[in-house]
Amino acid sequence: MARTDAEILGRDSVDDLDAILAVTNTEVDEAVHVVKDNADAIFTWDYERSRPPLVKLYEKAKTSQWNGETDLPWDTDVQPERDVAASPMTPTVERLASIGIDLSGTVLATWDDDQWLTWAVERQKWTMSQFLHGEQGALVCTAKIVETVPWIDAKYYAATQVMDEARHVEVFAKYLDTKLDGHYPINHHLKLLLDDIIDDSRWDMTYLGMQIMVEGLALAAFGMAHQTTQDPLLKQLLRYVMSDEARHVAFGVLSLKEYYTELSAAELLDRQEFAFEAAVRMRDRFLQQEVWERMGVPVRDAIRVFKQDDPAIKNQDPFQQLLFSKIVPNCKKLGLLDANDGWLRKRFDTLGVTQFEDWVDTGEEYELLDEVAKDRASA
Ligand SMILES: [Fe+2]
Ligand SMILES: [Fe+2]
Repeated sequence: MARTDAEILGRDSVDDLDAILAVTNTEVDEAVHVVKDNADAIFTWDYERSRPPLVKLYEKAKTSQWNGETDLPWDTDVQPERDVAASPMTPTVERLASIGIDLSGTVLATWDDDQWLTWAVERQKWTMSQFLHGEQGALVCTAKIVETVPWIDAKYYAATQVMDEARHVEVFAKYLDTKLDGHYPINHHLKLLLDDIIDDSRWDMTYLGMQIMVEGLALAAFGMAHQTTQDPLLKQLLRYVMSDEARHVAFGVLSLKEYYTELSAAELLDRQEFAFEAAVRMRDRFLQQEVWERMGVPVRDAIRVFKQDDPAIKNQDPFQQLLFSKIVPNCKKLGLLDANDGWLRKRFDTLGVTQFEDWVDTGEEYELLDEVAKDRASA
């Protein structure tokens, strides 16, 4: 029997704003965060290379390694204010008025362009910080997959991904520390999701949570940031990271597609519920509550002004929707969208994201995105 949304999410409604805002990170000063990892480590004595798509992906990964220290132009003069101001996505008083945003009655009514620019720079720092923490989540999850997956080809591939993720954490941390003066703590909704993924004892749930959901969203988010950033260093950094991430999502799709054919309807329902919970947790962090708090703006005011308190409008936000453009086709390819009478399809309908179901899935997309190796070969 399917659990109710309230049982899955721990709140009555998907869009219950009070419940979403009540979740804040109270452990911002902790130096380490401990999560119980409940899984068995599995040895296999079957060394036969019996999964050609994973063999191919592993070979690709070996020749696509790059060096975050020497392959990126760290001497670029990054000026966040200048770069963010040049972006058409940065709000100004005039831009906000032209799209009918009504700031009256809030502290935002007194903001000038400089304050909006400060906010946009903070938003950039916050976004990069969540990328950083998500990358560390990927590092820990793929190390776990090396231990827990029973297939030798998957252990080999996951080992290359551990190295990729270490490099991603390294370059985002260096970018934040040397170009943006430090990072924000992890957003609590993201932290809850990473904790849930690590906590689950079933090896395929690490894949579903990390490779399909978190990395699927990251691939879309990196793509949007790559298109809009005016900073050539960040542009190149994101391009390199994305070429790795496309392989990682492909690893998830290829592995789970095989494994899910063995599962019963009830077992698939567990996976559907997990995917739905992950989607909602990731969406909850889009409120960026920590940025408003740092700017001294009551979060409620900001949410009302930008109409994020109205699910009918919020769930139609094209930027929010686009972040799911990789996740939905991959869930469809895995059979998760339509199993159990379309249980997940109905949930994705309420989030306004089902329209991406026929977009290209990421099982093969890594071959298209893999420009880095070619660049390096021709250099
Ligand atoms: Fe990564
Ligand atoms: Fe990744």
